[in-house]
Amino acid sequence: MTAARLARRACLAALAATAGCAPRPPAPVPPAPPTLAAAYRGAFLVGAALNEGQFSGRDSAGAALVAAQFNSVTPENVLKWESVHPRPGVYDFDAADRYVAFGERHRMFVVGHALVWHGQTPRWVFQDSAGNPVSRDTLIARMRDHIHAVVGRYRGRVNGWDVVNEAVADDGTLRRSPWQAVIGDDFIALAFRFAHEADPAAQLYYNDYSLENPAKRAGAVALLQRLLAAGVPVAGVGLQDHDRLDWPTAAAEDSTIAAFAALGLRVMITELDVDVLPRAVPQTGADVGLSAAARPELDPYASGLPDSVQQALARRYAELFGVFLRHRGQVARVTFWGVTDRDSWRNNWPVRGRTNYPLLFDRAGRPKPAFDAVIAAADALRTGS
Ligand code: XIL
Repeated sequence: MTAARLARRACLAALAATAGCAPRPPAPVPPAPPTLAAAYRGAFLVGAALNEGQFSGRDSAGAALVAAQFNSVTPENVLKWESVHPRPGVYDFDAADRYVAFGERHRMFVVGHALVWHGQTPRWVFQDSAGNPVSRDTLIARMRDHIHAVVGRYRGRVNGWDVVNEAVADDGTLRRSPWQAVIGDDFIALAFRFAHEADPAAQLYYNDYSLENPAKRAGAVALLQRLLAAGVPVAGVGLQDHDRLDWPTAAAEDSTIAAFAALGLRVMITELDVDVLPRAVPQTGADVGLSAAARPELDPYASGLPDSVQQALARRYAELFGVFLRHRGQVARVTFWGVTDRDSWRNNWPVRGRTNYPLLFDRAGRPKPAFDAVIAAADALRTGS
């Protein structure tokens, strides 16, 4: 018997109960798993804030997840003043260079965050060598040098900048930050002008939290109207959206986006996460100056998230993305503040060392039901269901 006939006999014996030994058609290739960037293509960019590990080679699984899922990136910390300009005249762009290169390598929309903020800005910026407050002119000069150095270095490579972060207080007045106290209210316009000088093509944004609260929103709308009327080159507003399961309401989110879009500004959701833990401070929002002591009742899910809360988080994300999608002509980008629950700053703010679950990927980088809900929200729009 020839080898071929022997093989055929063996085949027939093994497959007697099946359809036979004719060559089988190739198995269908399963569809690629959905990604956030693909699901929202045509609606808005979907981004994530990256920590250093994700773009410096230490967290290759995290980097792969970012590359697969997102089409925009924001640096969680490495472009803040204390990172990039730690001492007078001393700039350190190592980490920031790696961040920008990562975004370019993956052809992403690269955001810079944040040029002028009261947080993570060294004390020396506001003081002279004797520790006394500097003059208005000195602080303006320091601001100009910093913005020109940082924005200028990445001219044409960082696509949009959070130029001024969190300048409005909860009551809608301007926050009494060192910037405001030393320079006066025009520190905001000056920052935008310096950034525009350094990169005329970059999109320049005002970014803040709790803009869904009426008093703060009214203050920010008035501020932006004044800036626009004065010809200040502000292109967009970032709503941070450090949210909770029950705050802000969908109606408040909806009217907030509408209010800023009505000014002709591009609206972005810039720091999205959803806190599922008990409130530790009375304020909503993301004031980095707040902190609260750890207590066991503030950390109820240290050994796992109950399914009921997992589902509530998924419904909450579906609700929020429903609002963003309704405004898809106005919302240009939705960026999450982190990638996996393990990375999230909400494990440490305003209480250190809690176990929070605010994002779409679990601590092992696996998609959560909230991820499926966000994908489904885009699919529903596409299929009209
Ligand atoms: C947070 C970072 O996530 C933390 O790693 C850091 O320790 C403190 O700052 N609003 C902002 C962000 O604009 O820059 C803050 O990021 C979160 C609140």
